[in-house]
Amino acid sequence: MKNRIAVYPGTFDPITNGHLDIIERGLKLFDGLIVAIAESHVKEPLFTVDERIKMVREAVKKYKNVKVESFDCLLIDYLHKKNANIILRGLRVISDFEYEFQMALTNRKLAPEIETTFMMTAEGYSYLSSRFIKEIARLGGRFDCFVPPHVAKMVKEKF
Ligand code: COA
Repeated sequence: MKNRIAVYPGTFDPITNGHLDIIERGLKLFDGLIVAIAESHVKEPLFTVDERIKMVREAVKKYKNVKVESFDCLLIDYLHKKNANIILRGLRVISDFEYEFQMALTNRKLAPEIETTFMMTAEGYSYLSSRFIKEIARLGGRFDCFVPPHVAKMVKEKF
């Protein structure tokens, strides 16, 4: 049987406990995960891609079978380069569904051999988003419970 490697893509600006929950549970389904950090220029991320790689690597260092890389191309092209054919995405709230459905169908049209799989985000993180964390941080609120401690420190340093 061949090893099943899934690619978990996202902007991770910053990575949250919600993303980590998907990674942890994804590892129960797949033999390994590649966390693929999209440069996402359009989103004008707060953290550079190198900063995001560093923070994600630190957050997943306890897992043996997780690799962290960045990409700046079509997601399906990245998967082809990695010889992978599974995309893992988290679904938080019903409103995610439309966007995720559109993205999955577009990717399927472009590369039918690639499958997108979805995991329901843990209930406690279903409302979480990186944008809210940045907004709370910018306005001086507490957000430590949403991210690992080293990420909280990196976010605080930005503001
Ligand atoms: N827990 C908490 N928050 C979560 C989460 C979870 N499990 N999963 C997603 N989120 C949040 C993120 O923090 C993010 O919040 P924000 O918008 O406030 O920053 C939001 O949900 C969605 O972000 P993310 O999962 O990072 O996806 P994205 O929309 O930024 O990126 C890509 C999607 C990178 C996969 C997509 O744009 C892509 O594939 N880009 C490459 C180019 C390409 O191939 N385009 C064609 C696509 S059809």
